[in-house]
Amino acid sequence: MSADGTNALVRQTAQFLHLYRPPAIEGDFKRKHIISVEQFRRDDLDELFHTTQTLRERVAAGDRELSRLGEGRLMASLFFESSTRTDMSFQAAMQRLGGAVVSASNGVKFSSVYKGENLADTVRAAGCYADLVVIRHPEIGSSYEAAYYLDRLNERIVTPTTVISGGDGAGEHPTQALLDLFTIIDLKQGLQGLTITLVGDLTYGRTVHSLAKLIARYGAEDVKLCFVSPPSLRMPDSVIDFLNQHEIAFHETDDLFEVLPETNVVYWTRIQQERFIRQADYDAVHDNFILTPGVLNQAPRDVILMHPLPRKHEMGTPNDHDILDQNPRAVYFQQMENGMFVRMALLAKVLGLEGV
Ligand code: NCD
Repeated sequence: MSADGTNALVRQTAQFLHLYRPPAIEGDFKRKHIISVEQFRRDDLDELFHTTQTLRERVAAGDRELSRLGEGRLMASLFFESSTRTDMSFQAAMQRLGGAVVSASNGVKFSSVYKGENLADTVRAAGCYADLVVIRHPEIGSSYEAAYYLDRLNERIVTPTTVISGGDGAGEHPTQALLDLFTIIDLKQGLQGLTITLVGDLTYGRTVHSLAKLIARYGAEDVKLCFVSPPSLRMPDSVIDFLNQHEIAFHETDDLFEVLPETNVVYWTRIQQERFIRQADYDAVHDNFILTPGVLNQAPRDVILMHPLPRKHEMGTPNDHDILDQNPRAVYFQQMENGMFVRMALLAKVLGLEGV
């Protein structure tokens, strides 16, 4: 006990951002927790994307050998926040590699979390049973906390476990950024000379935090980032500082039409309603950037339109969705599918599967 009577061992989730430092990949993915895009160097990304491409070809060719690679391996899915694509694509990735997936029946809400169990104990339970845990949680620092406790648990159990973040509150979403960057490089044959415009909720959107930082880590000649948001939803200072350290060019504005005509990649995002503390703050901005088919027409012909999804009214009406979906510039379904391939590559590398 400390002098004020509190137990110094009981820590807030956000404190783990300082207590735990994610390991650099440096050419070796095996058993490394994947928590932040800051862990990756250019070489690591090239290697991961090469494996992703190979796995994509093998899946497309119906290669049956794939489902032997991960035989006997187990992934636990721990989603404390709703998810469609991240959860399903991780599960699909694991199963396509021949591994299996466990989760609490009817989801984490009906596990002992319902009885008030804390994050560390729930993570350790998953860690005792699985080789790998994918976690999504509403609090920043949750995946750092998971990694911190798993490192200690791993010293005591016979099946050591690695954690991969599927979204760390309003902080990072590293695997989304991996699939986003893979998609851009795949469709644009690299990053060189591209102007990449991120639009929407840049304060609470974890996908854009990770993507901006990952582009900086990847580096490329004459790549430029544009950040378009209402002034109240600017990119956080931590991301801006990271970009400055990496000497990457960026421009912030609340005027989409200032940058759209010179944009090669437009990355649209949802205003993260669930992260706002005051409803009035959400109401003030939620209609600011609506991508209708008419808006997209003001971008260059070779632009690609990305979105991590889910989408709501920031892509107009359901009818607008249909029109946009038919436009060949809209690549969010390829992006979505790539998510499974990138996650297959990452799982294979982190689990150290032979034959990938
Ligand atoms: C995003 C997320 O959960 O951060 N979705 C995803 O993982 N594909 C984006 C969002 O919720 O807006």
